[in-house]
Amino acid sequence: MSLEAVKYRRGSLQILNQLLLPQRSRYEEIGSVQGGWEAIREMKVRGAPAIAIVGCLSLAVELHRCEKRDKDELATFAVESLDYLVTSRPTAVNMARAAGELSDFILTEVKQPDSSAESFKENLLSRLEAMLEKDIRDNKSIGNHGAKHILSKAKTDKVTILTHCNAGSLATAGYGTALGVIRSLWLTGRLEHVYCTETRPYNQGARLTAYELVYEKIPATLITDSMVSMAMKEKGISAVVVGADRIVANGDTANKIGTYQLAIAAHHHGIPFYVAAPSTSCDLTLEGGEQIVIEERPGEELTDINGVRIAAPGIGVWNPAFDVTPHSLITAGIVTEFGVHSPQELRKVLADKIGLKR
Ligand code: MRU
Repeated sequence: MSLEAVKYRRGSLQILNQLLLPQRSRYEEIGSVQGGWEAIREMKVRGAPAIAIVGCLSLAVELHRCEKRDKDELATFAVESLDYLVTSRPTAVNMARAAGELSDFILTEVKQPDSSAESFKENLLSRLEAMLEKDIRDNKSIGNHGAKHILSKAKTDKVTILTHCNAGSLATAGYGTALGVIRSLWLTGRLEHVYCTETRPYNQGARLTAYELVYEKIPATLITDSMVSMAMKEKGISAVVVGADRIVANGDTANKIGTYQLAIAAHHHGIPFYVAAPSTSCDLTLEGGEQIVIEERPGEELTDINGVRIAAPGIGVWNPAFDVTPHSLITAGIVTEFGVHSPQELRKVLADKIGLKR
């Protein structure tokens, strides 16, 4: 059983506070939309799919307790809550996509003449709760498609993978996306080794991915972000696999800061570069990566470590949390729950499989 970022049963939502990992493993109760918004904003929970799941389930717990007896009032509350949750963090598209789809569902449901407030509430709760299982199912498919593709291209019997940030169980409902591919490779017995980057400045790699890999007993080594080119030259890396916060129509992909330089280095060394993400991380409303809003975070994430200042006082700081990898550098493909696609194919696959359009 992999680590659980989210524990949910009707009326109760708990999240593993990822700010405390790896030193302490503490679950905290989220009882309201406001609590969900704050946990996402403070990064107690993070990772594109997990952000949407916790946001939507925070609505589910508040809705479950809500005493409103009027269908329209319930619908207004739900739509306003979803709009608010979208403002928690700007770059990952999953929460915005979920909010859009759920709002459409709410507006259709509320118009049904024969549906009561109770049945409206029940249908909405079921819809919100279904996200958990769907995400795990999608991640397992991503893992299997990615592993199969990597092995089909491998020049060696066993493969070594480099990953960045945390796109594992902790960033999803379970199994993970990039780490899901690694997990599936491990299950085939053909994974030699994993290199995970520290992922400065927030250290999701050192704190979270390293924690997951140790927990799963997958052979792995931690490197700093500045060691990736050297590792590609010397450590027999078979492929790079990363997650995504938003993949736009032309295949350009926003992911954790440092992904772009990883893709450049992989291209230079002729190493296949994969993005692994569910279709819920895709956004066909934007044509190119330059349109993605990149979150900028507080300077203290660079200047301080555990509250202790390490940078020279007075220095200016720039702290973009994500960067955009152009589709031309995603050389091996984008792995979704539907398979492995070239960036150019993505738009058609999403239209054919789920009717996703602009
Ligand atoms: O700032 P974070 O920790 O939320 O950033 C996370 C990432 O960039 C992940 O790679 C991405 O969200 C995919 S998680 C399956």
